Amino acid sequence: MNRRIRSYEAEQLIVEYDPKRCIHAEECVHGLPDVFDAGRRPWIDPSRAATADLVRTIERCPTGALHYRRRDGKEEQAPASNTVRIDADGPLYVTGRLRITLPGGEIIDETRAALCRCGHSKDKPFCDNSHVEVGFADAATIGDNRLKAPEDGEAGALEISLAHNGPLLVRGPFEIHSPEGATVRGASGALCRCGASATKPFCDGTHKSIGFEAD
Ligand code: SF4
Ligand code: FES
Repeated sequence: MNRRIRSYEAEQLIVEYDPKRCIHAEECVHGLPDVFDAGRRPWIDPSRAATADLVRTIERCPTGALHYRRRDGKEEQAPASNTVRIDADGPLYVTGRLRITLPGGEIIDETRAALCRCGHSKDKPFCDNSHVEVGFADAATIGDNRLKAPEDGEAGALEISLAHNGPLLVRGPFEIHSPEGATVRGASGALCRCGASATKPFCDGTHKSIGFEAD
């Protein structure tokens, strides 16, 4: 994967920042304005906060643009369940034990990601804020559930891969949440990433008729 990850060192941890995955949700700026200051260079100075506060704030970054490496070896714990939160007019925010297959085949373990569902990101599968530029509009309601039902007590990672010129393929137990509070559960299925399905967030095959192209 050809990503330019920037590192910012403090005594007890290293902050890692992937600028391509930052869509300026600003959880960091609001959480610790002394540390994350877009008007300063470097814009991240982790020496200005206690480790626990840094960890808490970084784990709130919804896109996974921010991560940390603690020098004591403690790692971020994934939430107990996997969740896909649909953002109105925006991406899918996914949290949990995630295994994401990138274009080219590399698999990364993640706990947080914002995934493109408008079809226009130049950094698929991640959101790069293109939905704003193209005026993507979707109320984020949940269409007829097309997911395979989970087994009782089914647990584990959520595997996310990409169908060539097609949807996000998801496998593993998870819940989808809409902004209005609706929830559906599933264990595998296909989520629209072309932006044109009539049953969003599920794929209904429309990507074929609109000639959607993506790795
Ligand atoms: S919280 Fe994450 S996505 Fe939001 S501005 Fe900070 S680094 Fe960017
Ligand atoms: S990816 Fe959008 S309809 Fe299939």
